[in-house]
Amino acid sequence: MSHLLILGGTTEANALSTAVAEKGITATYSYAGRVDNPRPQPLPVRVGGFGGAEGLVRYIRDHGISHVVDATHPFAAQMSHNAFRACSEAGVSLAALTRAAWAEQEGDQWQRVASIDAAVAALNGAAKRVFLAVGRMHLEDFATQPQHHYLLRLVDEPNELPLPNCEVVVSRGPFSLDDDLALMKRHGTELVVSKNAGGTGARAKLDAARALGVPVLMIDRPALPQRTELSSVAQVLDWLSHSGVNLGV
Ligand SMILES: NC(=O)c1ccc[n+]([C@@H]2O[C@H](COP(=O)([O-])OP(=O)(O)OC[C@H]3O[C@@H](n4cnc5c(N)ncnc54)[C@H](OP(=O)(O)O)[C@@H]3O)[C@@H](O)[C@H]2O)c1
Repeated sequence: MSHLLILGGTTEANALSTAVAEKGITATYSYAGRVDNPRPQPLPVRVGGFGGAEGLVRYIRDHGISHVVDATHPFAAQMSHNAFRACSEAGVSLAALTRAAWAEQEGDQWQRVASIDAAVAALNGAAKRVFLAVGRMHLEDFATQPQHHYLLRLVDEPNELPLPNCEVVVSRGPFSLDDDLALMKRHGTELVVSKNAGGTGARAKLDAARALGVPVLMIDRPALPQRTELSSVAQVLDWLSHSGVNLGV
């Protein structure tokens, strides 16, 4: 009997969840528990960390997990490293559902940096109006550059912010080009700081930056373990069926 664990929290994981439910595959969807109201899923959901790679090994054994699809965000590197270690230790099949990184296009003005720390260092300088599109988890890192006026777009209303001079927009993607053009014009954005997440849900800000002639500080992806990488839901279903999962309908 197979049991698939989807490590989620992304648009891709949600699409996989829908397809897996439609196929009648026994599966569980896992959220880290970072947002107040995670999207409902058509599969049983569990929420919260497993307790490191060791905790994930225990979870896999206790719940009879046979396959894991790591469909987390490309910057969720800790989870991906844990999943890699835990799956090899527990002897279960692992694949990652990944999305291609964004590439610079004609008209873009990107400065690429290797990490969040490097992005913080690159912000050293005169005050600017900065659209800081890095999510809630890393805002504290930018507290050492308090001179800028920051525009933050967050999934939930924050309790406390480490940046003295900022405006918060509470909104959940996907975002449209028209919305991001309007947002950046209203804010008077002079610089966008973005993780190279890839995918379609969050790329409108890059298209808006190009259209407005605004430069982008682009943070490269962290290194991830070498895994079976699949780039579509169809490929994941194929991988599951070739590794012994009965796809039913
Ligand atoms: N990082 C981003 O920019 C970003 C953007 C959009 C969505 N997300 C989503 O937000 C979640 C957290 O991202 P992160 O960057 O904070 O991860 P992370 O730094 O790689 O993970 C930190 C810890 O959070 C727990 N965790 C992460 N993802 C989990 C999941 N899907 N299910 C159960 N536990 C999980 C694990 O705790 P234990 O060690 O206790 O197991 C993990 O060690 C992920 O599901 C990711 O897909 C992240």
